[in-house]
Amino acid sequence: MKDRIENLLSEVEKFAATSIEQAEQFRLKYMSRKGEISVLFDEFKTVSPEMKREVGQLLNKLKTIAQEKLDAVKGAGDAQEEKKSSDDLTRPSNSFVGGRHPLTIIRKEILDIFSRQGFTVADGPEIEDDWHNFSALNFPEEHPARDMQDTFFIDKDIALRTHTSSVQVRVLEKTAPPVRIVMPGRVYRNEAISARAHCFFHQVEGLYVDKGVSFADMKQVLLYFSREMFGEKTEIRLRPSYFPFTEPSAEMDISCTICGGKGCNVCKHSGWVEILGCGMVDPTVLQNCKVDPNVYSGFAFGMGIERITMLKYGVNDLRLFSENDVRFLSQFKSAL
Ligand code: DAH
Repeated sequence: MKDRIENLLSEVEKFAATSIEQAEQFRLKYMSRKGEISVLFDEFKTVSPEMKREVGQLLNKLKTIAQEKLDAVKGAGDAQEEKKSSDDLTRPSNSFVGGRHPLTIIRKEILDIFSRQGFTVADGPEIEDDWHNFSALNFPEEHPARDMQDTFFIDKDIALRTHTSSVQVRVLEKTAPPVRIVMPGRVYRNEAISARAHCFFHQVEGLYVDKGVSFADMKQVLLYFSREMFGEKTEIRLRPSYFPFTEPSAEMDISCTICGGKGCNVCKHSGWVEILGCGMVDPTVLQNCKVDPNVYSGFAFGMGIERITMLKYGVNDLRLFSENDVRFLSQFKSAL
């Protein structure tokens, strides 16, 4: 028995498989249930007690070496598999190329259109003081917009800005006219969240202050914007309105982009949809910013980026913009 084990040992030690098939043959020959090593283990019962220790050790050695040989082949096989798969150039790529958020796409488009009319970009802080958000903009002490119900206050005089009009003040305080700027940014209002309202959203503010700036200039700038944004057939209409910081003030409608003015659900069958507020900068605001209203005049406007985006893409729920659902977001493609 000892001789048989030693013979097998030298056979097994010489073995080196070059393929999975050879390794399988090796396993069948030596290690399977009926294999030679297994048979020896069965016969071990018959070994005399005085030989048991020596034969047992030899048999175990044989089994260990045989197992090591098999494991070595298996390891090499796995490595080969891996190499093969990383070499497969036809394998589909699963890398995900991200896209821009629809609000980012439209913000860029808005800023581009105004930059073609000579506007540059400015910005200001989202945490604002009462002066820049309200007082300098001619909001009376008792104006409802200052109410806790509409504004997120951080302190008595500090709040999250409720509109980007605050940036008008910040820039005018520091810059002598001519000033021709657009100011994009996030704004906050204490509103219940629904399909039509959110506690935060985005605006683009515009401001043009120089000698002799007129209401007609404003109309032309906004008409150009509307046609670039919504198509050359777009018409605009200005309705008298009220804002503390402009006089006169107006709200601007565009002919409905969905039905072309014939009347549909989006325009509530009026043929028109409101897209922004605007007006001539109130002389009090210019004065508050140390700009002489007897020398300079200007116009301002403010629009919601969400609103423009909803009209442009036919989105009907404001909440979609902040839910980060890729099924929604992946529909927007941009070249930016
Ligand atoms: N700040 C106004 C709002 O949030 C929008 C606005 C209206 C801005 C008229 C203006 C403007 O600059 O002239 O509702």
